[in-house]
Amino acid sequence: MIATSAAIAELCDLAPPARPAVAEVLARVQPGSVVAASDGGRPVALVVLADRRAFVVDDRCPHDGGPLSDGFLDGDQLVCARHGWEVDPCTGACGRRQVATRAVGVI
Ligand code: FES
Repeated sequence: MIATSAAIAELCDLAPPARPAVAEVLARVQPGSVVAASDGGRPVALVVLADRRAFVVDDRCPHDGGPLSDGFLDGDQLVCARHGWEVDPCTGACGRRQVATRAVGVI
């Protein structure tokens, strides 16, 4: 398991790091990236595919609640860093489960 910055902050009894707003991160994110962001105060994973399409995905893995923003892209699939479940950021499909997602444009 990979310790997230939020988990480390919790262990150290620190406030978790603030997440930048999606609009702020969009201006500087690279294609093929997954970053933690905030969408109206809600924690999200901002996913920018290699073809530059961007999505905000609920930052909670349907398997065990891990932060999807700690994951990585395998092609167009968002892979959770904790146990490897895959989420389609375009549809939110994760096996038979679903994750909230929405398109935010093309960077
Ligand atoms: S928390 Fe287990 S795969 Fe995401």
